[in-house]
Amino acid sequence: MSNIILAKVVKCTALHMAKYKDASHDFAHSVRVFEMATKLVALDSRKINKDLVTYAAYMHDVNDSKYCTDHHPKMIYRLMSSFGADEEMSQLVDTIVNHVGYDRELAEGHTDAYKKIFTMPEMQIVQDADRLDALGAIGIARAFYFSANKNRTMANVIEHFHEKLYKIPYMMKTSQAKEIALERVKDIYAFEKSYIRDTNKN
Ligand code: ADP
Ligand code: NI
Repeated sequence: MSNIILAKVVKCTALHMAKYKDASHDFAHSVRVFEMATKLVALDSRKINKDLVTYAAYMHDVNDSKYCTDHHPKMIYRLMSSFGADEEMSQLVDTIVNHVGYDRELAEGHTDAYKKIFTMPEMQIVQDADRLDALGAIGIARAFYFSANKNRTMANVIEHFHEKLYKIPYMMKTSQAKEIALERVKDIYAFEKSYIRDTNKN
């Protein structure tokens, strides 16, 4: 691991995430994804490029088209190259960051190109780690924060549980992450049950 590249990756991530002004996608989210990805690497028996997982986990929401007006398709590649990463590493981090999202999977998940990219364990691990952060207590908090930022109602969050979060365990690419996801989704079911009890007027 190059400490110089890592320091630049962390600094760049912190600067970019601060720009979003959204606690559902802040630097702490990037750090949690990095920590979860590191845990998933340790549980995985395959040969894994740990540097690639580390860089992609930190950078995965940098240049997010949801937030960036200056979004550029090759930006991650360019940033990694400017940090001193070699051609192959820069390209791989770019590929992971550009394919990690849920919407992209819904749109392209059935294609051979997408499936081929998802044979990479590093890709699977970063995506699973990102999605695990949408579940459990943190996932509930993030959903309310995201919704509030968009001036939506609390009922919108409950809808989001059904539209997306309850499906996440079944979209996990690694069995280790699926096990954690099935545990974390129970917290959301329990929360929804209490929410319905407390809002039920009967
Ligand atoms: P991904 O990064 O996996 O593609 P998103 O960026 O869409 O996913 O979601 C990131 C976070 O924002 C998650 O915690 C998710 O639950 C929350 N979120 C996304 N869309 C909504 C929504 N419509 N309502 C509430 N929360 C949302
Ligand atoms: Ni993310």
